[in-house]
Amino acid sequence: MTESLVLGPLLRHVDDRSAAIWVETDRAAVVTVRLADHPQGHRDWRRSTFAVHGHHYALVEVGDLSPGTRTTYQVLVDDEVCWPLPDSPFPPSTVTTASPDGPVRLAFGSCRTSVPHDALHHLSHGVDALRTFALDVAGGGSGPLGGLPDLLLLLGDQVYADSTSAAMRDFIAARRDPEEEPGTELADFEEYAHLYALAWDEPALRWLLSWLPSLMIFDDHDVRDDWNTSARWREQMEATTWWHGRIVAALGSYWVYQHLGNLSPGARADDPLWQELTRREELHPGQEVDLTEAVDAFAADADADPSSYRWSYTHPLGRSHLVVLDTRAARELTPGSRSMLDETEMAWADEQLRGGHEHLIVATSVPFLLPRGLHHLESWNEALADGRWGRRFGRVGEHLRQGLDLEHWGAFSGSFDRVARMVDEVADGRRGPAPSSVMFLSGDVHHSYITEVERTSGSRILQLVCSPIRNPLPRALRAFVSWSSHAARPLGRVLARSATVPDPRWRWHGVAGPWFTNNLALVEIDDGHLRAAWVSGKVLGGEDDHPRLATVADLELAVPPVGAGHEPALAHVHPGVVGGARGRMLRLIERRRARRDHTR
Ligand SMILES: [Fe+2]
Repeated sequence: MTESLVLGPLLRHVDDRSAAIWVETDRAAVVTVRLADHPQGHRDWRRSTFAVHGHHYALVEVGDLSPGTRTTYQVLVDDEVCWPLPDSPFPPSTVTTASPDGPVRLAFGSCRTSVPHDALHHLSHGVDALRTFALDVAGGGSGPLGGLPDLLLLLGDQVYADSTSAAMRDFIAARRDPEEEPGTELADFEEYAHLYALAWDEPALRWLLSWLPSLMIFDDHDVRDDWNTSARWREQMEATTWWHGRIVAALGSYWVYQHLGNLSPGARADDPLWQELTRREELHPGQEVDLTEAVDAFAADADADPSSYRWSYTHPLGRSHLVVLDTRAARELTPGSRSMLDETEMAWADEQLRGGHEHLIVATSVPFLLPRGLHHLESWNEALADGRWGRRFGRVGEHLRQGLDLEHWGAFSGSFDRVARMVDEVADGRRGPAPSSVMFLSGDVHHSYITEVERTSGSRILQLVCSPIRNPLPRALRAFVSWSSHAARPLGRVLARSATVPDPRWRWHGVAGPWFTNNLALVEIDDGHLRAAWVSGKVLGGEDDHPRLATVADLELAVPPVGAGHEPALAHVHPGVVGGARGRMLRLIERRRARRDHTR
């Protein structure tokens, strides 16, 4: 019975009236989502599966819901109940619709490798923070914020298509020769389908994703390390025999597994592939549509002409607003006019970055604000690689860029300043009433921190980073990151100036962090208060399969309405996180760091 459901259900886009539930099934079927305790009795929403490369998927749109309600649901495949799983140890899955008021609670993170949850892999990859959170909630916990999140934001590297696990390599070896390109990296849609199954079929995580709405955006490893870092990088990829197949499979599977569920019902209705699916379903009612060729053609077009499709999207968050930016596929890579967002995407961002919300939250997989020393270094490297010091140094610059992953917003410095100018206008109330804060949420960099832009009026501008969920930075690199977070600023600035790179539009400083453990961030925004906690998993008493939730950092920041005074943010380590002398010492360090940054 249970095999009918290969993957899912995943609860995806949810607003005050509707919810999208995504599944993969083992055959062509009709999938039903049944809300068990709907006020009008059991009520069913149905959708036939569609096929891509022999796999079967359905996204069931549930509508006509009431704001702020919670309802349990079942999933039926051809009228057979397949979810909840029989004898499931987890509580029933629910759909909770958004309510217009009250605090907003988000969980976010990035960079999650999918390897077993045993002692050996805890040594090599650390404990999975997202799975640990799922286990904690299943056991009745609600994390340090005392309330469950309304939304999970997965900000990139949800799957690793380049650096594969032993299970993935076994799958590859069973179907082709891994000695031939692309070796143990992914080659096609079939392999992506298996990669997603490895990532999302772990029982606790599967249960979490069945009731916690999730939104996602890709980063490089969903496709390949350093995806679109430079024009040279693209030339190198396009010269291989396997890149075209890879990018078509990556973007096609991303649309199916990740992107489709990001969209609101209205945005989905406008999506060209979804329209094609709906059109063909109407021609052949009750039959499964094979969308393979359409998905492949769409993915090839989206790669060849990024302006043909937009992966970015927006999402309402009560009185606040979320803008999720694609900072990978829509890059302009031409040397001399590099931009993190091409002109089409930049124009769209320009329209979306507006005031009139309590908080404006901008999700970008790569952090908008790196430590300033690193930002300067990347801007210097961009100038070097673009030939500021001649062709020979240009090659050195490209080598450094690819070798050291110098590919964040600082490495696309013109577009950094353009977006910063837009955000300044939001924060100064020149794009509608200024929000209390503009908050960037990001991942990618395998360490976590908070920074704040230095301004004396208008909205606070903050950067919160949570990375990795499960893929810790090697210890040797942690020292380098710590150094670059605190001490590399003068060096980076001197280098940037030596290449006549102008200073970035903003100055910013660290508020808290860096933390290097595997983490999931939990954020609560309630009027003028922002509380943010980073939680991790800890194995106690040898119970590797059942790690316990541990709080790495728990901070409060004041984000009062604009005009209510504007002091630099002070991060208060929340009492009770770490007890005893160590806790007192940590709180003292945070206070001293905050005071030092305040006076800087
Ligand atoms: Fe990444």
